[in-house]
Amino acid sequence: MNCKYFGTCASCTLYDKTYDEQLNYKIQREKERFSNLTNLDFNIIKSEPKNFRNRAEFRIWWEKDEQGEKDILSFAMNDFNKEILEIDSCSMVNQDIANLMPKILEELQSSMILSFRLFAIEFLVSSTSDILVTLIYHKKLEDDWIKLACELETKLNIKIIGRSRKQKIVLSSDFINETLNIQNQEFHFAYEENGFTQPNTNVNIQMIEWVLQNIPKNNKDLCELYCGGGNFTIPLSKKFNKVLATEISKTSIKSALRNCKLNNIENIENIEFIRMSAEEFVEALEEKRAFNRLKNIDLKSYDFSTIFMDPPRSGLDNTTRNLAKNFENIIYISCNPETLHRDLEELTLTHKIVNFALFDQFAFTEHIESGVVLEKR
Ligand SMILES: C[S@@+](CC[C@H](N)C(=O)[O-])C[C@H]1O[C@@H](n2cnc3c(N)ncnc32)[C@H](O)[C@@H]1O
Repeated sequence: MNCKYFGTCASCTLYDKTYDEQLNYKIQREKERFSNLTNLDFNIIKSEPKNFRNRAEFRIWWEKDEQGEKDILSFAMNDFNKEILEIDSCSMVNQDIANLMPKILEELQSSMILSFRLFAIEFLVSSTSDILVTLIYHKKLEDDWIKLACELETKLNIKIIGRSRKQKIVLSSDFINETLNIQNQEFHFAYEENGFTQPNTNVNIQMIEWVLQNIPKNNKDLCELYCGGGNFTIPLSKKFNKVLATEISKTSIKSALRNCKLNNIENIENIEFIRMSAEEFVEALEEKRAFNRLKNIDLKSYDFSTIFMDPPRSGLDNTTRNLAKNFENIIYISCNPETLHRDLEELTLTHKIVNFALFDQFAFTEHIESGVVLEKR
């Protein structure tokens, strides 16, 4: 893999290595980081070396042509000096996004109404080529914009959303449909434009499969924190009696409920979603505070055997970490090894690490996703 922008575009910081070299560098780094906590061999889940990102965001840059007459539009990223770097492609984005980039730029370039004061563009794509494009402007979007953007939707066979200050115009839909084949079973999801979704589809599928393979034998009920749109919840619900899943974002909870319907679990027999921060949920479980949102849920009816957590980069707060220590089994997915290490230093006082995986979701960057399975000592 050799991107023509390696060494100039600041998004890929590990540009001077082959795919395997950059992965080995991250594996060694993490082995060293966690060496005081485990000497297990890590399970390593690789990414494709290119075209793996199912979402991407680019600035739009304007420059005069050589005659100084016509404005020329291009995609832009930052270089290593934080200066603008004009690009015409990106080797990391999914092939559908890569194919669309020059086409959409040409269309935007040819329309003053669509391009004037456009400053960023976001792409979200599914493996079934459902594509959502968000055009972000520094101007109010009027009817003439809507008319032309609708025509562009049809011409390029994409969904378009227009955003500006205090304005969000959804033309046909604000989500894409995704189908993931997990352990030979199809799971359906609607990914919303502003909801959290995992950026690397193939690695995401393998992460879910790894978690399913690592479910402890004594599985009864599952407690899940930071559930997002149900990415793990729905496949995991097939393996537990009941699942109680919590999440702070209203959009994600709405999306999780829709995703249940898409998978024919409309009556949600065994999953209960609660919009609640992890911190509030701890207060509810410990009966320190009563919540209206929980009035129809009998927390005492759950016989939890496992807690599953996939927090944001900040990791677990003190109360959530303490809550986790009460569970027989802990499965922890982390996008930040630094906060994971901090949390494991505490969790390994009561639990032992029985499996550890690295998922290379963000190839050619310093980032790596981890998965850890812990059992009570
Ligand atoms: C890394 S994402 C994981 C989402 C989901 N597991 C997935 O695979 O798509 C972290 C999620 O935690 C949620 N979140 C952030 N802070 C939170 C908090 N304090 N309490 C509960 N959820 C939180 C975010 O909204 C986000 O959906």
